Amino acid sequence: MPMEPAPVADPAAIGTLALVEYPHPALLRRSSPVTRLDAGLREAVARMFDIMYEAQGVGLAANQVALPYRLFVVNPAGRRGEGEERVFINPVLSRPRGTAVQEEGCLSLPGVRMDVRRPQKIVVDAFDLAGEPIRLDLDGLLSRIVQHEYDHLEGRLFIDRLPEAAALEVKGDLDMFREVFFGKQSRGELPGNDAILAALDRLEAARC
Ligand code: NI
Repeated sequence: MPMEPAPVADPAAIGTLALVEYPHPALLRRSSPVTRLDAGLREAVARMFDIMYEAQGVGLAANQVALPYRLFVVNPAGRRGEGEERVFINPVLSRPRGTAVQEEGCLSLPGVRMDVRRPQKIVVDAFDLAGEPIRLDLDGLLSRIVQHEYDHLEGRLFIDRLPEAAALEVKGDLDMFREVFFGKQSRGELPGNDAILAALDRLEAARC
């Protein structure tokens, strides 16, 4: 069946969420601040944790499930029932300190892993799912994850932070991801970019 989206009765309806892979347009677009925290969004966040655990990830940004909102979910333990689940809504990063190099991967670029240089510590201000403000001074793995997920909200991927030689190393992988993605679009297994962008615009208008 062609994947042209059916007319949407409720413009805020989120529908079924699924992980999207590079170069899905949602991954390359800056997300918008959330101004409406409704039941639909809370449901989407619960589903984002499911998707993150299924994919054995430790963090997932909304645009990785084709939602145009500034929010991400994190659990450094990567397993349900272990560690601590956190939701960061409309996050702002500040006070970067130190430098750390660590290997990263991304659920939207499965199989690609590269060393990435980032500030070691940062402060994050955000809101939780109840709308309460959070402020955390982060170091270690949680600092790394929050910075990686924050990049997603800016429409950036960890591959955008690689030095030139490392960027060349992943070029072949990215070409392959593009070929797979555009192939699915041409066979009607994925909506075209215009339909994807229209859906993002609709969801953005509903909650931003
Ligand atoms: Ni990622």
